[in-house]
Amino acid sequence: VRPLIIAIDGPAAAGKGTLARRLATHLGLPYLDTGLLYRAVGRRVLDAGADPNDPAIAAAAARALVPGDLTRDDLRGPPADAAASAVATIPSVRAALLEFQRGFGRARGAVLDGRDIGTVVFPDATAKLFVTASPEARGRRRWLELQQRGVAAELAVVTAEVRARDAADAARATAPMKPAADAMLLDTTDLDPDGAFAAALQLLRPLL
Ligand code: C5P
Repeated sequence: VRPLIIAIDGPAAAGKGTLARRLATHLGLPYLDTGLLYRAVGRRVLDAGADPNDPAIAAAAARALVPGDLTRDDLRGPPADAAASAVATIPSVRAALLEFQRGFGRARGAVLDGRDIGTVVFPDATAKLFVTASPEARGRRRWLELQQRGVAAELAVVTAEVRARDAADAARATAPMKPAADAMLLDTTDLDPDGAFAAALQLLRPLL
């Protein structure tokens, strides 16, 4: 039997991670936050004092990734966001991370969240959700996350950063962020985490 693969894509701070984690627990599947892979690559490049737009350095960092890189506590926040989005435009970086993601899912099935799970990583996923929310709602969520971690930031600046990263992720040539043709859309603007989970289950149920 084919393992159950749930692909969850969408822009920054749309609620993908919270939703994906809850679905994974509910369905008894492993969960992979694929954004962490790009964040960890960006972090390695920044640590080396190099430019995240440098293809050779970023690709070497992607190939050198080890599991411990994904548990670092400095993978969130504006510098890591920007570095992740920069390395994510580089085809050799994406290629280096592709097999890991596929292997993770094939082993026992999985819920994966990211930007290109339904389009590139698992085009034959069991079910695909594209999770969105208004830019204002997403900016506010990311700002609240930063507040909770004690990072001072201005709401308008955080919202502008979220918008800029989405624009870059949607416009890049390789594996741009976009809904797969067969993805189901879920707008979480007016939903809290419980509401988003209930709405997602309702969409997924016929496919599981
Ligand atoms: O999901 P998260 O915000 O942690 O992702 C960080 C960045 O990594 C995104 O802005 C995007 O550029 C990149 N990414 C990607 N493909 C994925 C997951 C993340 O390009 N599957």
